[in-house]
Amino acid sequence: MQQRIFIKEVPKCVGEKVRIAGWVNIKRDHGKLVFVDIRDNSAMVQLVGGEILSNLRPQDAIEIIGSVQKRPTAMINKNILTGEVEIEVQESKVLSKAEELPFDMGQEDLNVELPTLLDWRSLSLRHPKVTAIFKVQETIINGFREILKQDSFTEIQVPAIVPSATEGGAEVFKVKYFDKDAFLGQSPQMYKQIMVGVFERVFTLAHAYRAEPSVTTRHLTEYLSLDAEMGFIESFTEIMEEVEKMIRYIFQKLNSERAEELKIFGATTPQLSAKIPQLKMREAQQIIFERTSRDNRQEPDLEPEDEKEICRYAIEKYGSELIFITHYPTKKRPFYTYPDPQDPEYTCSFDLLGRGLEWVTGGQRINDYQQLLKNINEWGNKPEDFELYLQAFKFGMPPEGGFALGAERITMQILGLKNIREASLFPRDMERIDQRLSVLKPKDKKNEKN
Ligand code: 4AD
Repeated sequence: MQQRIFIKEVPKCVGEKVRIAGWVNIKRDHGKLVFVDIRDNSAMVQLVGGEILSNLRPQDAIEIIGSVQKRPTAMINKNILTGEVEIEVQESKVLSKAEELPFDMGQEDLNVELPTLLDWRSLSLRHPKVTAIFKVQETIINGFREILKQDSFTEIQVPAIVPSATEGGAEVFKVKYFDKDAFLGQSPQMYKQIMVGVFERVFTLAHAYRAEPSVTTRHLTEYLSLDAEMGFIESFTEIMEEVEKMIRYIFQKLNSERAEELKIFGATTPQLSAKIPQLKMREAQQIIFERTSRDNRQEPDLEPEDEKEICRYAIEKYGSELIFITHYPTKKRPFYTYPDPQDPEYTCSFDLLGRGLEWVTGGQRINDYQQLLKNINEWGNKPEDFELYLQAFKFGMPPEGGFALGAERITMQILGLKNIREASLFPRDMERIDQRLSVLKPKDKKNEKN
């Protein structure tokens, strides 16, 4: 039997007979003449036929044999890879029939509400506009991996079941672990730090679990955390340099490999200045106060409105859509964060904000065993819950630090998506684990934030 080829190869086969397989995207029935767009993992191509195609329905999985021919000049579509050819079908076989669709998958813009898209996720993910989101995400993840490998980082895998909360006690999922309690890891933080003692530079792609008790457009309860950690640093600014290098590499990769997908969303990678600007958190709050008269100068963190305002400022002042905010207050950061030796009320830590939202968190860590032990106690944790982690600091842990970014958050911000759920294949939130867990009751509306 003739071997199947991928659709992207079809334009090279004019005058030849080919066998292809894929899904029916759209059918246009003009009576005697039927046109079908068929899609596989590589591209889409137009089929032409008569009765042989008339029984097909959108999303049927089919296999056909036909002759590749040049399209009449008036029918050429320069916008697609296969726009100069079509296949005249001689044999057609339905491999698996599709039921009637709950919404029109043929519309280019997919004008369907998000809850419906999520209720029919296995179907909606097949729409080219939705698929494009995950191609972009794959490129972001590949970019993260490639640049860190080039810089001598080793990829590691860490467990999801952990003995203790790391990023803050409340937002943690407890799991019944035989007759004990365990937790789902809020971040691979502890393990990547331990592994600095082994490989010096490590990174991981880890699922992170946050029991976020509110419904927002930027939080998931399970997200993909792209984490890196490096030893033998002299200053936390080295970590910011690594973040900047990684971000620039990802943007460059998106522009060269994903121009088509960015175009679908009318998106561009964020504009950057020669160097990403930096401000201390207190400086940022002062600027925000001067610009808006909103006085959050004593607050321990930037409010969502403040993040938006300081991003507006970064564009106006520096021509950069990204900005580093450094030196968050010690008491508001996790126990492992390194206090600034010059001003221990504040930390050697940073967030990278872009287009009004936090993308990355990072900083230097405390690598002194005694200081870490003291902080664990002061932050209200039990040292025995951190035994294995603490062990690593008894045996020569160099000065170190690292960072983490949420894959869905970055995808959302680059493509200008309104809701982070759009950037997750199978999003988890308070209301959904594939199925809707409940319908929002009026009294729960107070949890709805933006
Ligand atoms: O700021 P976070 O909580 O920092 C940490 O987890 C530290 N362990 C990182 C470190 O290396 N010090 O989370 C890091 C990033 C955020 O900037 C955001 O992009 C993403 O992870 N993130 C979420 N994304 C989706 N849903 C959530 N609930 C998220 N929480 C954090």
